[in-house]
Amino acid sequence: MTRAPHGGFFITFEGGEGAGKSSQVKRLAEHLRRLGASVILTREPGGSPGAELLRELLLSGTVREFGPAAEAMIFSAARIDHLDQTIRPALARGDVVICDRFIDSTRAYQGASGQLEAGFIDRLERIVIGDTRPDLTFILDLPPEIGMARAGLRRGSDQIDRFEAEDLSFHQQLRNTFRRIAEQEPDRCRLINASSSEAEVEASIWSALLPALPRMGLNAETQSAEHKL
Ligand code: TYD
Repeated sequence: MTRAPHGGFFITFEGGEGAGKSSQVKRLAEHLRRLGASVILTREPGGSPGAELLRELLLSGTVREFGPAAEAMIFSAARIDHLDQTIRPALARGDVVICDRFIDSTRAYQGASGQLEAGFIDRLERIVIGDTRPDLTFILDLPPEIGMARAGLRRGSDQIDRFEAEDLSFHQQLRNTFRRIAEQEPDRCRLINASSSEAEVEASIWSALLPALPRMGLNAETQSAEHKL
């Protein structure tokens, strides 16, 4: 891992449906705050007022009919606003930014259509994020059968969104792509087994994060004994 060209530290969480990202994101933020970090929690699509408007269009399926290239570009438009309004200002202040989904979701979900020309997503990604790459990415990995069952239970099957409604082979392909990204970018990515209990997943994430604490200007020893994992 090389140091990002900004003062703060940028962490992203990725994975398929029902991997438990949103609760792990909150747990990690709590741990870091206890060590004295100033932490911003955010998510994609969304994370700024403009991007939240686009989120509605993306998750309702309204954008789907324009095709995968347009859909990838609207996710990217939301990301540009999110970076400008939320992520870069926070990093410039020296905050730790924890984002629930980012570039790897575009690579996996929009790439999974198989209909985009080779290199399209890479080029778009370079234009959209520039130098603002995550310092560390946790990829929460679990079999899609388990993840989809968890997501369905959480929301109820009448409330599933545009991507939860895709079939099992789509979700299997997502998993394969996320795993491939983790393999190809070992400096940035940590593959976390998300099939186990929330507490076990939390502990795996924390131990994978420990080596990066000094780069956030933090020291694990300042954590009180009762909160140690
Ligand atoms: P959300 O309700 O935030 O889901 P989750 O709890 O699964 O994170 O929905 C976000 C959905 O948008 C999710 O199905 C993944 C999809 N997505 C993309 O397809 N491309 C992207 O670039 C991003 C950020 C998300």
